[in-house]
Amino acid sequence: MAKVLILFAHPAMEKSRVHQRLVEHIPKSAGIRFHDLYERYPDFDIDVLYEQRLLLQHDVIIFQHPFYWYNSPAIIKQWQDLVLEHGWAYGSEGRALAGKKFMNAISAGGSKKSYSKTGRNKFALTDYLLPFKQTAYLCGIEYLPPFVIHGTHRLTETDMDLHALQYEQMLLALSQDRISKPEIDSCIYMNDLVPIPNAIQS
Ligand SMILES: Cc1cc2nc3c(=O)[nH]c(=O)nc-3n(C[C@H](O)[C@H](O)[C@H](O)COP(=O)(O)O)c2cc1C
Repeated sequence: MAKVLILFAHPAMEKSRVHQRLVEHIPKSAGIRFHDLYERYPDFDIDVLYEQRLLLQHDVIIFQHPFYWYNSPAIIKQWQDLVLEHGWAYGSEGRALAGKKFMNAISAGGSKKSYSKTGRNKFALTDYLLPFKQTAYLCGIEYLPPFVIHGTHRLTETDMDLHALQYEQMLLALSQDRISKPEIDSCIYMNDLVPIPNAIQS
């Protein structure tokens, strides 16, 4: 069993359609911990020691958030800047997080097609995530492909429910260590490893 920590960041949950559902589907299992950063730190006053302790207690770290301006909402940057300290997370003596796994779980307004060379967003969504990937590598963390929900503005209620079920299945698979390294290496999005009925085109 792997212990999964979901660091959740949505600055306007009252307006959310997608993450409301995803959060509802997070399994209430002992091995999966949900931690809402905006709720806990409305003034961005991050408790660094508490966050570092949480990280040490978990094996898989997930940043769950909507994609905002090709990035995460601001509190995740604040969290990274303060929590990932030199000499703790990185640097010649900073090995606290080595061997852990990390991924983003994201919703994006843009379709998958729009995130391509010829699309309006010009680059693949995974290109925009490179700072997360390299941050993980610098800290000795294994970077997993992201879980992505595209085209959020056009999703029906049913689509969103299916995505939420898929997210639930992925979290269970991660916490039960059911996803192998070759599977991870073979996919672009984690979604590809957890098929859902009536695959959604977005
Ligand atoms: C401030 C802001 C910035 C956004 N930036 C992007 C963006 O860069 N790329 C994108 O695909 N969608 C962008 N969107 C759309 C959101 O990603 C989308 O509304 C969200 O993922 C839907 O999730 P929710 O229903 O939980 O809020 C943005 C939305 C807002 C409000």
